[in-house]
Amino acid sequence: LFTPTSLLVTGGAGFIGSNFINHFMAGNPGCRVINLDLLTYAGNLKNLTAVEGNASYRFVKGDICDAELVARLLAEEKVDAVAHFAAESHVDRSITGPDIFVRTNVLGTQTLLEASRLHAEKLPDFRFLQVSTDEVYGSLGAEGYFTEETPLAPNSPYSASKAGADLLVRAYFETFGLPTLNTRCSNNYGPYHFPEKLIPLMIHNILKKRSLPVYGDGLNVRDWLHVKDHSAAIERVLKRGRPGEIFNVGGNNEWKNIDIVKLVCDLMDERLGRAAGESRELITFVKDRKGHDRRYAIDASKLKRDLSWEPSYTFERGIAETIDWYLANQGWVEEVVSGAYREYYETQYGAA
Ligand code: NAD
Ligand code: DAU
Repeated sequence: LFTPTSLLVTGGAGFIGSNFINHFMAGNPGCRVINLDLLTYAGNLKNLTAVEGNASYRFVKGDICDAELVARLLAEEKVDAVAHFAAESHVDRSITGPDIFVRTNVLGTQTLLEASRLHAEKLPDFRFLQVSTDEVYGSLGAEGYFTEETPLAPNSPYSASKAGADLLVRAYFETFGLPTLNTRCSNNYGPYHFPEKLIPLMIHNILKKRSLPVYGDGLNVRDWLHVKDHSAAIERVLKRGRPGEIFNVGGNNEWKNIDIVKLVCDLMDERLGRAAGESRELITFVKDRKGHDRRYAIDASKLKRDLSWEPSYTFERGIAETIDWYLANQGWVEEVVSGAYREYYETQYGAA
């Protein structure tokens, strides 16, 4: 069992990173956590009010591509583990502007790996955990699952940049012996999910009675996992995974997009006191995403078997809690959908 004493989290102000910090700090009071985040449009310190002021927590605004800053933080904080979340994460944005995806996801990861390699030489024990995605495996037909042995076949600039990063992680393990770990998770949902992504976008638009854009025929399939279950999986891999290993993480919870949108409509109608079926009328089929992967499905049996991880949320409970969270946190949503986000939204879908 590896017990980190000083953990550098990158991208800790984003959706999964902030949920992870909140989860990890609650269960590991003896570990210092340093959150390095550039606060791009996707980063939001309001996600971290629960840990603000905690003496073991430090936030640093900065870029993972800044080699000097990263080296300084690793040394100054005597970091013995890195959990690397920072990334450009939205597939649609990677289609309209791929450059930043290569910079952040590939070059940023390599910068962290190189600094970690130099830093870890002097340490008895160290871990670098790369948080990655099932999208690196490409797209499935109606049958089958991605395992850790599935060849990488990314289809979008986003997933290609994540695959590039994963391969650099592998190379740093093979070439330099840096103790790396790599998780590949399916679609997350839960609190603090940025409302450019399917579930929070639908919740927001239903509330505003705006149209609900469903790409293509709506029959693409995603496997949804609650972000708290993903956080628990990452903690487990960090502490118990053998360096050099890859672990798939998934919920065994496949949904066609159109079915999930209808479900969210119905749950929202109940809560808003609208007539049954009212929100479904907002569903609008729009032009398909370019290169749209048809189906993702994860085989997470290695993680379950080797590290005894199990998801704790049923989807029924998780989606209901998530909708309630969004309804109770409209202030958070309103802030997020203003400013830079609005500009992006208008380019993507037209003025609201
Ligand atoms: P997100 O877009 O919500 O957050 C990304 C965070 O990274 C933001 O806080 C942003 O400010 C920060 N960041 C961006 N560029 C940076 C830079 N150059 N330096 C420092 N910080 C920077 O993303 P997310 O959905 O929380 O995803 C986190 C990680 O998990 C990503 O690596 C993503 O590929 C992976 N992942 C996401 C999902 C999902 O369903 N969202 C599933 C599997 C894996
Ligand atoms: O699988 C893990 C990945 O999940 C992560 O690596 C990514 O960072 C994360 O963004 C997510 O990628 P997806 O492309 O699957 O998520 P998104 O929420 O963008 O879309 C989910 C599905 O819904 C996808 O098939 C596209 C569709 N969609 C999405 C949006 C935003 C729509 O039909 N309409 C929409 O408006």
